[in-house]
Order: sequence, then C-alpha cells, then structure tokens
Amino acid sequence: IRAALIEGPLVGKHILVTSGPTHEPIDPVRYIANRSSGAQGTAIAVALRDLGAQVSFVTGPADVPPPQGVTVIRVETAREMKAAVEAALPADAAVFAAAVADWRVSSESGSKIKKEKGTLPSLSFTENPDILATVSQMSTGRPRLVVGFAAETDNVVAHATAKRLRKGCDWIVANDVSPATGIMGGTENAVVLISDAGTDVWPRMSKAEVARQLAHKIADRLSAAFA
Ligand code: CTP
Ligand code: CA
Repeated sequence: IRAALIEGPLVGKHILVTSGPTHEPIDPVRYIANRSSGAQGTAIAVALRDLGAQVSFVTGPADVPPPQGVTVIRVETAREMKAAVEAALPADAAVFAAAVADWRVSSESGSKIKKEKGTLPSLSFTENPDILATVSQMSTGRPRLVVGFAAETDNVVAHATAKRLRKGCDWIVANDVSPATGIMGGTENAVVLISDAGTDVWPRMSKAEVARQLAHKIADRLSAAFA
C-alpha cells in the first residue's frame, strides 16, 4: 500500500497512460503481437505518480510489471484498450505509449485452426481503431495535453512530424526503433520531442530519465495558465 502524495506539481491532476503491446487473437491459442516490452510506458507512469499525479495506466500484456500506486487497467486487444481509455476519461493529460497493433484478423476463429496436408491458412486483416487520433480529435472533454509516441525505423523526424499533424496530438515523442539501436526491449531510449514549438533532440539516456524529463515538461505545461 502506498499513500497518495500530498505535494508535487501534479497533485490533483489525473493523467492517463497507455503502455505495452496489444495482442490480436487469430484463434484460441494464437495471436499477433509486437516487440513492445512496456518499459517506457511503465517508467512514464512511475514518473508522473512521483510528481503527485493520479495515474490511470491502461496496459496490454507487457513484459514488465505495472507500477504500484497507479490504477491499473489490463487489456489484450486494441479495441479493449480504446474502450478502457474512453472509460478512464476525463483526464488532464494523456500519454499514449502503447504499441497498438495496427491490424487485427478480420474473423477470429472460435476453434483452433488445424494443420491440413496440402493447404496453408490465409489471414485477412482489418484496421484497428486509432486510439490516439480518436482522443486527440475529441470535440468535448479532450485532455488539455495529448502526447503520442512515434516509433520509426527511418526518417524519424519527418515521419513523426507528419504523424503529429495527422493525428492532432499536441506533442509527439519520436524514437528510432531500428534493431541496431537496441531500444525495443532495452533500457535506454533516444527521443526527439516534437511540438508546435519545434523539434527538440534529447541525448540518449535511460528510459527512466526520459520518463522523468517528460513528466516534468507535462507538469510545466499543465500549470501554465494559458496552455
Ligand atoms: N496509436 C494508437 N492507436 C493505434 C495505433 C497507434 O493509439 N491504433 C498511438 C500509439 O500509442 C502512439 C502513436 O499512436 O502514441 C503512434 O503510433 P505509431 O504506430 O507510431 O503510428 P501509426 O499511425 O500506427 O503509424 P505507423 O505504424 O504506420 O508508423
Ligand atoms: Ca502503428
């Protein structure tokens, strides 16, 4: 049991964080997933909590355990994550660190797909809802600050800048997740923060330090009178 903080720049603020991968079922025993460990999203929830925020942490099946002292909402699929996010609103700010599967299998098989000689299964896909874009474009009840992530393997700043405008979020935390960086699944991150004020390249640092710096920036923004 952890008592709520009574001081800190985010006391009285409710912040939503999504984290981890989603799993999209193929049949009762198989699913589509991605390499997100949930480490960066978890570190962000910890950092926000430590500044006094009340954190709603909506997480897919991550490798790392969720933090203490936050409200944990566990989900599997992108559609469950979207419903959990909508149920957790309103919030003062929302940080979308989850690696949401872009596609799901159009029709999940209710029974295990069997191997049959001479035939290969084929899967058809449907696009998942974009949770970040949905919340960014809410006409009423939108969080004051909406922060997205952009995991890219090339042209990081160009892709992330376009992504910020397309989705309508306030900030995008962009990173290079090419295998050579070791960021996916590792303990460090190298990010670029993109906002309407421009592009800020951060040095490579631990995911915990990225989280602390981001949490402080969020606190500064939420305490500004005319943000
Ligand atoms: N995101 C989301 N819902 C989705 C897909 C992405 O909320 N269905 C959020 C992620 O949590 C992240 C941001 O959108 O904050 C960007 O995710 P990313 O995968 O980089 O962007 P996409 O628009 O899916 O583009 P692509 O995968 O083609 O690069
Ligand atoms: Ca994607």
